[in-house]
Amino acid sequence: MYMKSVLAASTAMMLAGPVMAEPTAEVLHWWTSGGEAKSVAVLQDQFKAEGGTWTDMPVAGGGGDAAMTALRARVLAGNAPTAVQLKGPAIQEWYEETGLADIGSVAEENGWADVLPAQLAEHMKCDGQWCAAPVNVHRVNWIWGNKQILDEHGITQPTTWEEFNAAAEKLKEAGVTPLAHGGQNWQDATIFETVVLGQGADFYQKALVDLDPEALKSDTMKGVFDELRTLRGYVDDNFSGRDWNLATAMVMNGEAAFQIMGDWAKGEFLAAGKQPGVDFVCWPTPGNGFLYNVDSFAFFNVEGEDKQQGQKLLAKLIMGPDFQKTFNLNKGSIPARTDVALDEFDDCAKQSNQDMSADAEDGSLLPSYAHGMALRGAQAGAITDVVTNFFNSDMSSEDAVQQLADAVAASQM
Ligand code: GAL
Repeated sequence: MYMKSVLAASTAMMLAGPVMAEPTAEVLHWWTSGGEAKSVAVLQDQFKAEGGTWTDMPVAGGGGDAAMTALRARVLAGNAPTAVQLKGPAIQEWYEETGLADIGSVAEENGWADVLPAQLAEHMKCDGQWCAAPVNVHRVNWIWGNKQILDEHGITQPTTWEEFNAAAEKLKEAGVTPLAHGGQNWQDATIFETVVLGQGADFYQKALVDLDPEALKSDTMKGVFDELRTLRGYVDDNFSGRDWNLATAMVMNGEAAFQIMGDWAKGEFLAAGKQPGVDFVCWPTPGNGFLYNVDSFAFFNVEGEDKQQGQKLLAKLIMGPDFQKTFNLNKGSIPARTDVALDEFDDCAKQSNQDMSADAEDGSLLPSYAHGMALRGAQAGAITDVVTNFFNSDMSSEDAVQQLADAVAASQM
């Protein structure tokens, strides 16, 4: 009797195989707008379909500043979430501070090195190990325009900032708000960096990647602030504190002609059933180059087999070709993987993909400073403070460049 039950029990165990914990994940992210929520739901659904339990931790606030504050509080409380939307040098900063889970085994099993552009893969590594998984490539330097308004006023794609200003003046005279903008630090920074790029990829590299003091104080940078002052004149009176997706909605609803924003704005247009080339246009901002913003997830060191399984499963799903296609169709970005066919993507995405390859050849594929891809937090924050102060005051361009150079120098001490 005893033997029989022992045998039965061990047979049952053999049939069940090793006991595997069910994957769980608490996922901190800032994707709460219409297009964003639709996109992150793709990951959530796939995770659940694989038997995972997903605990959502959305922290509203475009650009992720509030999410990063929430993350710090959780880490300080000794209770880091399992998976965190994290990108650019912040990945390495967190790695240095707390360590991050090594996801090398997932990356190797799934051949990530073969399907990711080298420049992009670098962002996903800490001390040579894979420590983050990329979901996409967003292009930041886009102008979104209401097609009907532009057609009505005979406005075509501006190739210089002067042409952009001329178009904006024409609209203003006709009583149309030229530029939909949300007065939040990161949105000011987004406009600023596209104008910096407009002065040439070399200048952008020197000023916002290398932090060259000469470039920061140059006449060219003064010209950038002059243009920013001009752009300030094209926004409506209620711009302060407005969320980026509400600014996008203004373009959609014909309350403004343009928005300068990364292609997550396209995710909003698409979620509202609008079509590129029919309802709205996408034009790269004047000047050559491509400012990239790659969203990714990193995983903190956590206890518990279920959580660790959850991290591995998420990493694998995120880089899955199927996920990369569906997610990016919703998000407005293009896949991080180079082997996903773009047939089902729209013309904006196709242009993004083409420009990205062409710009990678000649050094004009550059990391977005405003979206945390180019600089560490302290340096990026120092620049953004000056830009926002300038945008919201009557500071002169001369004072702005001096403050910029000083603030960057102080942040490096
Ligand atoms: C960016 C992020 C995008 C987008 C945007 C607005 O920083 O990379 O995915 O959602 O913020 O929230």
